[in-house]
Amino acid sequence: MCGIVGIAGTRDVAPVILDALRRLEYRGYDSAGIATLVDGHIDRRRSSGKLNKLGDVLHSRPLHGHTGIGHTRWATHGAPTETNAHPHASKRVAIVHNGIVENFRELRDELKAAGHTFESQTDSEVAVHLVTDYLDKGLSPSEAAQAAVRRLTGAYSLAMIFTDHDGLMIGARKGAPLAVGYGTTESYLGSDAFALAPFTNKVAYLEDGDVVVIKGPDITIYDSEGRPTNREVKTTSASAALVDKGGKKHFMAKEIHEQPEVIGHTLAHYLDPAGPVVQRQGVGLRGALSKASRLTISACGTAFYAGMVGKYWFEKLARLPVESDVASELRYRDVIYPKDGAALFVSQSGETADTLAALREAKAQGQTTIAIVNVAESSIAREADIVLPTFAGPEIGVASTKAFTCQLAALASFAIAAGVARGTLSEADEKRLCAQLLAAPRLVAEFLKQEPKIEQLGQEIAKATDVLYMGRGPSYPLALEGALKLKEISYIHAEGYAAGEMKHGPIALIDENVPVVVIAPHDALFEKTISNMQEVMARGGKVLLISDKEGIARAGDVWASIQVPDADPFLAPILYAIPVQLLSYYAAIAKGTDVDQPRNLAKSVTVE
Ligand code: G6P
Repeated sequence: MCGIVGIAGTRDVAPVILDALRRLEYRGYDSAGIATLVDGHIDRRRSSGKLNKLGDVLHSRPLHGHTGIGHTRWATHGAPTETNAHPHASKRVAIVHNGIVENFRELRDELKAAGHTFESQTDSEVAVHLVTDYLDKGLSPSEAAQAAVRRLTGAYSLAMIFTDHDGLMIGARKGAPLAVGYGTTESYLGSDAFALAPFTNKVAYLEDGDVVVIKGPDITIYDSEGRPTNREVKTTSASAALVDKGGKKHFMAKEIHEQPEVIGHTLAHYLDPAGPVVQRQGVGLRGALSKASRLTISACGTAFYAGMVGKYWFEKLARLPVESDVASELRYRDVIYPKDGAALFVSQSGETADTLAALREAKAQGQTTIAIVNVAESSIAREADIVLPTFAGPEIGVASTKAFTCQLAALASFAIAAGVARGTLSEADEKRLCAQLLAAPRLVAEFLKQEPKIEQLGQEIAKATDVLYMGRGPSYPLALEGALKLKEISYIHAEGYAAGEMKHGPIALIDENVPVVVIAPHDALFEKTISNMQEVMARGGKVLLISDKEGIARAGDVWASIQVPDADPFLAPILYAIPVQLLSYYAAIAKGTDVDQPRNLAKSVTVE
């Protein structure tokens, strides 16, 4: 996750951009840079390290110019050196980039063959050469930017400036946020409204696939088809920008939409996209599991369901025996902890009292303790032997969404790492699984386009008083999570079941008023889940099937379906989390509940 700022202005913009970047430093701070147009030419200053270092560089070598872009980096591809720092530039264009360009290897090979010379190890630099290539072929900056964006796959946002085009700035959004600020004589681009707060309180949020062309104060937004479009310009107060909802009604909606970006950020910490392989510097960490006799996984609430998915992955990929239980039970059970055992605790806040107590007990029993946490300075992070951070950013909505999928991203990476360390995964399998994981941000962004359809289904679900969720394998914890999400924020009674258990009781509840959400990726267990679904339908049950294209085609007639992008079953828990989140969000909206602060709940439960 990196921070982007751009100004098409009427004054020297470099100091102002530097100031705005400081408000984005939470997004990354291992290197930074600014590029401006000086008499029509691109000039830039870059530095490794924090923004203060860039400030020193600018002090000794000031940068003039009224049009400029800036970047604070959190390295994904390539070390945090000055050469890898943004903006990247050719003679014709300078670009800052946030996110991951998945197909950078193919594009780099193609552009190298066409005579382009690369300076950095970043994926971002392909955007510079691609745009330059189109400019060289005679396209205008706007045409070149749109043509380039169509060729880049992944989840990302970009801002660019062009030689000989003072006042021109182009931005693009695909899966990572980009806000456009409207001034009277100037215009702005920023990763969030907070970065732009001192300049303007009029902000529009780009939608996926949008390209914005800014000429001084004139702003034109094009949609993914290249048609001029309007995006609502919202007026925010500076204080509102501090708790910015990114143009959404609720934090939960904003956090659901942040997932392509934050999953990418979390994966970037664990995977080396150049392989793609798991990061080799994590050897010590993987060593913890290489000889472990057993892994105990524990957590509370949504974090526990992430841990349950992890159990399936560790067993399959690393052949590691796993025991899992909710922390409130584990801490009081007479657990038989094995010699050379490891214990993994998952927590967004890192402060949940039961999870912390369970960790302390496991530690006292001689287990190597590992924590997956979102808050780096939390108690659980401080007390665990090994900390695996997630990079979801602050999660405000009480119902956990982005923290959950980031926990899954970390667990998946760690399970692959454990498989490599234990010799149960071949090099080829490691590469295949890592490549699939790296596609998750793009696939989540692709799925989010179906939001209007899920809004309608959420309204239907809101009419029910009871809803059942079912799934098999790693989709079973997702059924539990789907039911938890729905009851938490819509107050509709919901239960999740292992699909094979339906006939042992829950099927007695089925009638035409009980929607049954069936989570069935087209995996090895698909046919089994579909049989259980048929048993429900034979009893008049109203099935909402969540599956991929082939799964939906093979399942036959159901009440409703949600189609998730085709992907390897390994990715399913991350992708299938999104529809269950959106479904409960829209059911809650239809019920008129307090989505971000549902009754009786708390974000962080620091009591037993
Ligand atoms: C509370 C929250 C849940 C969360 C659980 C565990 O109940 O409302 O959303 O899943 O605590 O929290 P943690 O911070 O440990 O992940």
